[in-house]
Amino acid sequence: MNNFSNTNKLNKLIDIGIALSKEKNINILLEKILNEARVISNSDGGTVYLITDDNKKLNFKIMQTESLEIKFGGSSEPVPDYIYPVKLYNEDGSKNLNNVSAVCVLKAKTINIKNAYENDEYDFSGVKGFDKKHNYFSKSFLNIPLKDHKDKVIGVLQLLNAQQDGEIISFSDELVELVEALSSQASVALTNQLLIEEQKILFRSFIKLVADALEHKDAVTGGHCNRVPVLTMMFAECINADQTDKYKDFSFSEDEMDELYVAGWLHDFGKVATPDHIMNKSTKLEGLYDKINQIKLRFEILKRDVELNFYKNKLSDSNIDKELLNSQLQKIDDDFKFLEMSNIGGEYMSEDLQKRVYDIAKQQIELDNQSSSILSESEIDFLTISRGTLSKKDREVMESHVSLTYQLLDKLPYPDHLKQVPFYAGCHHEKINGEGYPNGYSGDQLPLQARIIAIADVFEGLTAPDRPYKEPYKLSKALNILKFMVNDGEIDSDLFKLFITKKLYLQYADDKLNPKQMDDINEKELLS
Ligand SMILES: [Fe+2]
Ligand SMILES: [Fe+2]
Repeated sequence: MNNFSNTNKLNKLIDIGIALSKEKNINILLEKILNEARVISNSDGGTVYLITDDNKKLNFKIMQTESLEIKFGGSSEPVPDYIYPVKLYNEDGSKNLNNVSAVCVLKAKTINIKNAYENDEYDFSGVKGFDKKHNYFSKSFLNIPLKDHKDKVIGVLQLLNAQQDGEIISFSDELVELVEALSSQASVALTNQLLIEEQKILFRSFIKLVADALEHKDAVTGGHCNRVPVLTMMFAECINADQTDKYKDFSFSEDEMDELYVAGWLHDFGKVATPDHIMNKSTKLEGLYDKINQIKLRFEILKRDVELNFYKNKLSDSNIDKELLNSQLQKIDDDFKFLEMSNIGGEYMSEDLQKRVYDIAKQQIELDNQSSSILSESEIDFLTISRGTLSKKDREVMESHVSLTYQLLDKLPYPDHLKQVPFYAGCHHEKINGEGYPNGYSGDQLPLQARIIAIADVFEGLTAPDRPYKEPYKLSKALNILKFMVNDGEIDSDLFKLFITKKLYLQYADDKLNPKQMDDINEKELLS
């Protein structure tokens, strides 16, 4: 070998190394590794194996025999299921020292078989059966272990039948050296991609764990956190597929999709700190339990006091009318019924009704020889909440989840392509007209990603099929509310249009909603 050819080979190896390091798809990378190894060794065929996750078998990932036109894996059809993995260990747990690829892994060494038919160290009966069936001659094999950064064998590159001038020859020492050099380059590229893939899988599992944790705390929030990312990604995929309308010149890159996915999953992360009784507060007086029963007891005491007074008075004056007692008792019952009704949060509580709560609160009862109002200050405050069940303070606690989401997510050291995750997640309650929270961002301050999560969040909230205290809205009602929100400038009108025209709402509903929520949708009216 002269210096010139050595330089050529070195250049070739460097080129291959660069090309391999650019490939991000693991299957295509494996195919390229085999292709390049076959080219430099002029081999008719070869196989790339990877070790299974349990470290017990070798999976066939790429298989090629050019003269038989066999090509599996990579950009071709996957390796068929009938080709079983190679076992590294026998049934009794001992090492499988019969199979040459298994031994290549187990001993972490290159094995060069000059002629399989003259070799009695390994079992080549399978190969011979294959040869017979296909009228082929599998003569020379070169097996090289692929090792990761920790020197652990992660796969095998096997080359079959080196050729020269149309003849099958054995792999020369010079070729072995060259293929080994290529394999170590290939191993680096492969290890990089496997590590990236592993990290991605780990991180994705971790973010799902957050939704799982929230589900253990509160099933409704868990369901919400599972469904919002589904809808978020439906929007993003639909935007990427749009060839004709608003988004025809725009699409999210793979990295941007990844970022949006993570933000979608983690958007309500801050709810880990929201107290349960506020998250799902079903009545105005609900704290750790519904305090209406305490009030009921006080009203019972009041009734007894009134009755007691009546009979005490009757002792001195037998002419006292019982009608009066009855009407007093009736009024107490009516008052309590009214409070019970007020405890259930509604769309709107008028000032008149709120005033009745204040009037009722003027009544006094005797407890511990002390006279006090039948309702405490805080009970009055809660019972006069004009919309829903949350007091101003409750609402502040509830709304703080989104600031907390941002603060917590902002602590993570993201790779470049995930840097916007905290921002996108932290904007899901902002509104385009600037009336959202926590920052009141508006218009261009809210990027498309934040707008997508926001519309997905609202729609999921409206249609959630698993709220224990609330019948889920029918599809038509939820879509109409979305339309009102679009008209009020709260959510993105183009996304709403896409939601309807591309029938995304239906795709989502078919997958996630109860059949009884499905009703007739007038798309024209929604788009008018
Ligand atoms: Fe939220
Ligand atoms: Fe949410």
